[in-house]
Amino acid sequence: MAKIISGKIVSQRVRDDVKRETESIKAKNGIVPGLAVVIVGDDPASRVYVNNKKKACAEVGFKSEEYALSAETTQEELIALVKKLNASPEINGILVQLPLPKHINEKAVIEAISPEKDVDAFHVSNVGRIMIGDYHFLPCTPAGVMELIHSENIEICGKNCVVIGRSNIVGKPMAMLLLHENGTVTITHSRTKNLSEITRNADILVAAVGKPKFVTGDMVKNGAVVIDVGMDRDENGKLCGDVDFDSVEPKASYITPVPGGVGPMTIAMLMKNTLMAAKIQNGLI
Ligand code: GUN
Repeated sequence: MAKIISGKIVSQRVRDDVKRETESIKAKNGIVPGLAVVIVGDDPASRVYVNNKKKACAEVGFKSEEYALSAETTQEELIALVKKLNASPEINGILVQLPLPKHINEKAVIEAISPEKDVDAFHVSNVGRIMIGDYHFLPCTPAGVMELIHSENIEICGKNCVVIGRSNIVGKPMAMLLLHENGTVTITHSRTKNLSEITRNADILVAAVGKPKFVTGDMVKNGAVVIDVGMDRDENGKLCGDVDFDSVEPKASYITPVPGGVGPMTIAMLMKNTLMAAKIQNGLI
């Protein structure tokens, strides 16, 4: 029987901390952190994410600005908006919701965001900082996973950590954060041979593969810590993760559920990054 790590509880704690500190810098320094969220087109999933981000900003006491642009917006127009936001003293964090329409080069847009305002930590300069372990912002999902692991005081040092998935947003930075805490890290992916052999060695297993119920009980060592980053739909259209909870939970020592695990952490960490950005830009750090 695994202990369930609740992202609902841990994310609430993070947001409460952010709210408290926001009230304090507002009172002492007159600073209100500001986040700009840019959405292009009408992808329904992106719309839900953006609404949740706006709601979270209001809850912690940030100012938020939403820029909802039509799907026909050109790359030049989008980059012009990013540059305007880079120059705005009211805005401390800029988030351009991905994916962008096909005619826009995501990389060019991300590179246009000022690294100091890049609260997603997607800009190459922030990615490079993470590589060398000298960073202000961490990408929100891997940072949320670390917060969940820390919330249970789970030891990472010397442990076999296996990450399934090598995306720039989750898999690669996730591996780096575990490595910074002295985990022995293996990154696996779609071309990995004998995946189960590798995952069965994992003391800490992070699934970020994007395939519903991909990790099954036979792939997991007894007593492993299993973190599920997936947000998938099962054969009945029901929300599920990358981990087959029913077969994995009996073997794991800790497991995160979907929903209610890593998902709520992502927005909480975005709030934390935006507060950090506001503090840095106002010389408080
Ligand atoms: N689309 C899905 N997740 C994310 C995220 O964390 N940041 C941005 N900018 N877009 C996303």
